Amino acid sequence: MAIEIRLITDAEVPAYREAMLTTFGDDVESDPTGADRIRALCDPSRLWAAFDGATIVGTAGTFDFDLVVPGGGRLAMAGLTMVMVRPSHRRRGLLRELVRLHLDDAARRGVAISGLWASEASIYGRFGYGLAAEGDALEIKRAGSIDASRGRELDATEWLDEARARAVLPAIYERAIARRPGALIRSEAWWRERRFIEEPFMRGSASRRRHVAARRGSELVGYLQYRQRPSFTDGLPSGRLDIVELVATDARAEATLWQLACHVDLFPTVTWWNAPVDDALVWSVADARRIARRRTDTLWLRIADVPAALAARTYAADGALCIAVEDAAFELVVERGAPHCAPAVRAPELRMSRAALGALYLGGVPASRLARADLVHGDAAALATADRMFASAIAPWCPEVF
Ligand SMILES: CC(C)(COP(=O)(O)OP(=O)(O)OC[C@H]1O[C@@H](n2cnc3c(N)ncnc32)[C@H](O)[C@@H]1OP(=O)(O)O)[C@@H](O)C(=O)NCCC(=O)NCCS
Repeated sequence: MAIEIRLITDAEVPAYREAMLTTFGDDVESDPTGADRIRALCDPSRLWAAFDGATIVGTAGTFDFDLVVPGGGRLAMAGLTMVMVRPSHRRRGLLRELVRLHLDDAARRGVAISGLWASEASIYGRFGYGLAAEGDALEIKRAGSIDASRGRELDATEWLDEARARAVLPAIYERAIARRPGALIRSEAWWRERRFIEEPFMRGSASRRRHVAARRGSELVGYLQYRQRPSFTDGLPSGRLDIVELVATDARAEATLWQLACHVDLFPTVTWWNAPVDDALVWSVADARRIARRRTDTLWLRIADVPAALAARTYAADGALCIAVEDAAFELVVERGAPHCAPAVRAPELRMSRAALGALYLGGVPASRLARADLVHGDAAALATADRMFASAIAPWCPEVF
């Protein structure tokens, strides 16, 4: 029987959810509110499924996000999500078709950029996605001996119950990530349905989320969310504190929250699965080997509308560059900080794939480094210009899996 790929109806959302969850290895019972969450967060005209008869054998969807780009601008991004193909139907081109529908829909709506988190890093390069942001998985041993303050004055800390956390976290987050490339703006529905929801599958054997804020006078300047995994070994506390999110508006708030996280009695091990790669903690501590770090890919970007995307960010230096992205060339000119990008009328100085441009876009990796990997081509002068222009003083970080 031929496979039909189409938008799903509202009545098909539970079956869509079931197909997706079970392919990823979970069961519907562990996430009983999942279908309603999809309804709350996704426009129904952006949920596609592949049907073999009445059975859903593949899914994909789009979340509409605003992405923070270097300089603090916000660019609409189509977030590709809930992608799967059942084991019975894999490697017949269904993923390729689902990605095409997502990209065509974004193009029709004039959305310049698509982003995703990949289950496997090998999948999406072929579709033009490049690795735009990385994260560090941290594990801190004997955290109680860490002094994140280095003798500096820290902020006060305030314990937040669930209701107060719901009231105050969104505004702190918005201020803290205002200039963080790679961060996503969270809508009210996103906070409600994703950040504050607590289903058993989200926490496994860990506790519910705890919330603590850093306070300076009457102002809240950061927050820490964590879960606890209590344990004792040979009578001694050996619990683990898992940071869900540590968000700070400045360095003092960051140090305050790290100090708190490292000094929770009974929890000598602290982990954070997705810390920003420019986190200050490793430089604050006397013994940085106490902090094990594993770097991993997080946000992948595919830039569809090159002039719109390049004009949406700011640049670290003025300059002019003619860039060929696959078979089209663009002139990027930045004068007194103002970027303009238009089709090129001269020979390109740099050549790259769409995926390489996605990797460069947020300033997470310099062009010269991609050139060493044979992903960007150009002479030393053009690469040096690109390095200067595309650099971002703030490392890309995407604190949001979707
Ligand atoms: C990954 C997955 C969606 C692929 O679906 P599929 O329908 O088998 O993929 P397609 O047949 O359309 O393959 C398209 C291309 O991607 C390649 N590809 C597919 N899965 C891949 C993988 N896991 N790693 C590397 N390449 C992969 C195929 O080889 C093919 O390459 P080609 O066009 O150069 O021949 C499917 O295996 C799956 O659901 N996996 C489990 C859930 C998952 O990881 N989802 C992705 C979430 S981000």
